[in-house]
Order: sequence, then structure tokens, then C-alpha cells
Amino acid sequence: MSPEIEEVRHPFLKGLSKHRGAPPTVAVIFGASGDLTARKLVPAIFNLGLDNLLPGEFHLIGFGRKPITDEDFREMMDGAIDEYSRRPLNKEIWERVRQNMSYHAGGYDEAAAFDSLAEKINQIEKDLGRDMQRMFYVSTPPAVFEPIIKNLGSSGMAKVHVHTKLASKVVIEKPFGRNLDSARELNAVINDVFEEPQVYRIDHYLGKETVQDLLVQRFANSIFEPIWNREFVDCVQITVAESLGVGSRGGYYDTSGALRDMIQNHTMQLVALTAMEPPVSLDPESIRDEKVKVIKAIQPLKLMAEGGDVVRARYAKGLVKGEPVKGYMEEAGIPADSSTETYAAMRLAINNWRWQGVPFYIRSGKRMARRASEIAIQFKRPPGILFSEGDKFNVAANTMVISIQPDEGVTLVMNSKIPGLETRTQPVKMHFSYSTTFGSNTPEAYERLILDAMVGDSTLFIRGDETEASWKLVTPVLKHWEECGQYGLEEYAAGSWGPVASERLLGERQHHWRRSG
Ligand code: BG6
Repeated sequence: MSPEIEEVRHPFLKGLSKHRGAPPTVAVIFGASGDLTARKLVPAIFNLGLDNLLPGEFHLIGFGRKPITDEDFREMMDGAIDEYSRRPLNKEIWERVRQNMSYHAGGYDEAAAFDSLAEKINQIEKDLGRDMQRMFYVSTPPAVFEPIIKNLGSSGMAKVHVHTKLASKVVIEKPFGRNLDSARELNAVINDVFEEPQVYRIDHYLGKETVQDLLVQRFANSIFEPIWNREFVDCVQITVAESLGVGSRGGYYDTSGALRDMIQNHTMQLVALTAMEPPVSLDPESIRDEKVKVIKAIQPLKLMAEGGDVVRARYAKGLVKGEPVKGYMEEAGIPADSSTETYAAMRLAINNWRWQGVPFYIRSGKRMARRASEIAIQFKRPPGILFSEGDKFNVAANTMVISIQPDEGVTLVMNSKIPGLETRTQPVKMHFSYSTTFGSNTPEAYERLILDAMVGDSTLFIRGDETEASWKLVTPVLKHWEECGQYGLEEYAAGSWGPVASERLLGERQHHWRRSG
């Protein structure tokens, strides 16, 4: 990549050098034999090694309940890189990480296993003759988050080198709680053991290039900010659509549903970054302060058995990319009396100076027509005096579409004259594509997030009050749905854009979902 492109690509990072200088680290992954470790975490660590971004001294310890030997663990991780890394295994680079990799078997509620882990890390420090940062990555089922945190406290590991650059850190995977009460409780357990700056709550959407680019698009361009408000914007639509179903995760998914799995975290982060005020600086607290403020400004949702601000549905059988697929109730592990939603949509009202009166429509679902995550800012129409819609004038609302995945880019929909002797109009698109401009080998979200946690930059992680603000908004919806059971749970054909009922949310203002097609 040429130096100019590097500079254009990371204007926010220029001069901050935060991609360099991760201190000597011992990373411990709890849940080491789990799926996420193999699919995302270890391939990300390998790719960081390939880019020479790992610290000079880097040790990786896998912690899990299964009794596995060090060598078996290393071989499992070799296989994970082969299968899941975005770049092929480079034996020489990987060997440098591999030789400092080991496995520690133990129960998550077994204090002695944590004491022996502490001794193991102390020994690494002694052997190297230098202090090391401890980074604890909690990638287990949520039921054992609390015992792990408590044991990190009681073994003394949480407090090692505290208040120095080598202070221990804890990175926590989702789901962060099941509702407001459990999120508060988990925060209390964590903050009993760790100080907030030591805590890194993961939302992998924040590690995606295009999500980070949202701040650049908004605040590094002067043409958008003046029109990014209720004077000019008619509505905002945020879609996080997946074409996959629940697959083999049915048992877990049925206890979660779209609202917990995708809306409370990933989609709400997209809302916050789209709607927040300009932060006073790029430091993590300034950015997170603004995100919390805007989430708090979202009005409580109107909940009714029918109508109201929310719609939920589950997929019935249908066709995805021409192939017949099962309905949710036929998937493995789904109980016959399930009332879990695989699709949720909401109409949000943000009651602040910038957005009052502008609806934010958000939706997320599985088994939708295609995988497409995007933010669409739909601007108000011009006065219909000269080119009002009709046979000759096909006029669309100006829309800026930020495509998060899979075709990362930004599109501006505008209207243009069709060449010819007559004046006829047609909507056209101005398009910027990430892959055309920058090539397609962008880092995976987890590479960025693991590196940032190691370096100590918490900008792309969720603060405790932020997760609580988001749970506060959605918890009444969860309660309401629980009370309604299956009543009001709509269906949509797999491979469609969701239930017909979701059009109702937009109908009041004569808006329509973009088809994202
Ligand atoms: C996870 C959800 O957090 O995000 C999954 O638990 C979902 O259900 C996944 O499939 C989507 O992530 P991505 O990066 O593929 O959009």
C-alpha cells in the first residue's frame, strides 16, 4: 500500500501512533477451546503478528475446562489459522507466537486454578526479568463471567501493576447481561474487582472499518455536518440483515432473540455513532460521553399488543438465494412453545435539539433476503414546484447510504436529467467503494480490538454506563414481549425483507423501508 493511501485511510490515527508500542503482554483467553477463540481470536492474533503489531514479548495462555496438553492446544490453533485466517499461515511468524503458547486447564469457579495461573504468569515475568501486562480475555458462556471476574480478584491478578501502563486488563465478550438488572449486577461485580479504565467490553461492530469510518465521514468532511439534523433529514434507517439462520446455535439463540443478540448492542452502537454530537476530542471518554448522551435522549418506546414502536417476528420456511430453507420452529433445538423473535424493528424518537421529530427506524433479522448492514440518511424532498414526481419526473429523496457490509462504501442518491431532447429525470448514484479505492484486504474487527485493548485504547469498547443506557431502553420491550408470549409475534418468509407488519412503523409518516436490494 502506498504511503498516501495509508494516510488517507487512517486520518484519525495519524500522529497518534496508537498502532505501535503494545507493552509486553501475557494474554489469557478464558474459553480457549471455544468457537470464538478458533474462528476469530487466534486468527486475529496471528494476523497482528504478520503485521508486526504484537509486542516483542507476547505470551498466550489458553484457559479452559477440557484437559488438553500444551501441544494439542497449539495444534488446534494451527488448524484454526488454516481454516479461518484471512491470510494464509506463515510458519515463521506463527512459530514466534506458538513457542510462547500454553494451555492451563481448570474450572472457572475453581480458585486454585486461578492461583496456579497467577504463579505461571509470575514465573514468565521472572524468567524474562521484566514486568508484563496481563490481558484477560473472557470468551466463555455468560453464566461463568462472574466467577471468572471474582477469581481474577481473589487471586490478586486483577490488581497487578495497577495504575501503571502495565495494569491488568479484562476484555469481556457479549452478551453483557440479559436485561438492565443483570447488566447492572455484572457491572457491579466487575467494578468491585477492576477499575473502569481496566475494563474493555466488546462489541465487535465497533472494530469494523466502516463503523469506525462513520466518525470520519461525519466529522472530517464539512459538507455533511451542516445538514445532519432535523432541518434537512427526513428519517434515518438502519438495517442489520443476515441471510443466515440460527444454524447450530438454536439452543442458545432461543434464549436470546434478535433484540438481545443484535439490537441492544450492535444496532444501538450504529444509532449512537450516527446521531451523536461531535465529541470535543478523539479521546475515548469524549467519544463515549457523546454516545451515552444520545442513547439517553431516545424516548421510551410505545408498547402495545398491536401498534406501538416495535415489531417482532420469526422466519417461516422460504427461499434464500434460490435454496429452500427451514422455518425457525423447524431448526434444531427450538422448543415447540418458543416465542423468540428472529427479527426486530423499532421506531426511535431522539429527543434532543438536533433530532427532535426525525424518526430513526432500525431493524435486524436473520434469514433475510441477503446480508446487508447499512445506515441510510434520507433527506427531505425539495419543494415539488419544478420537478414533482410523475410520469416524466422520477424523483427520489436524496439519501446517503453508508454500507457497513458486505459491499463497504458510501452512496449518495441524487436526481439527474436523462439525456435527450425532453426533460425527464431519474435517480442516480454517486458511489465510493472501499475495495476499489483501498483494496480488499482490510483487517478483521477482532484484530483492531485486540490490538487496541493491548495498547490501552478503549475508544472502540463499551463503557459501563453506555451498556446500561441501552439496556434501559430495551428492557421494557423484553418484558412486554414476555408478557405477550406468542401474541403479536409475526412471521416472515425466509429470504424476504421481514414481516409486512414492519411497514406499519414507517407508514404513519409515509416512509418506506429501503429494500437494500
Ligand atoms: C453476533 C451475533 O454478535 O453477531 C450473531 O451473536 C450474528 O447472531 C453476528 O450472526 C453478526 O456479526 P457479523 O460481523 O457477521 O455481522
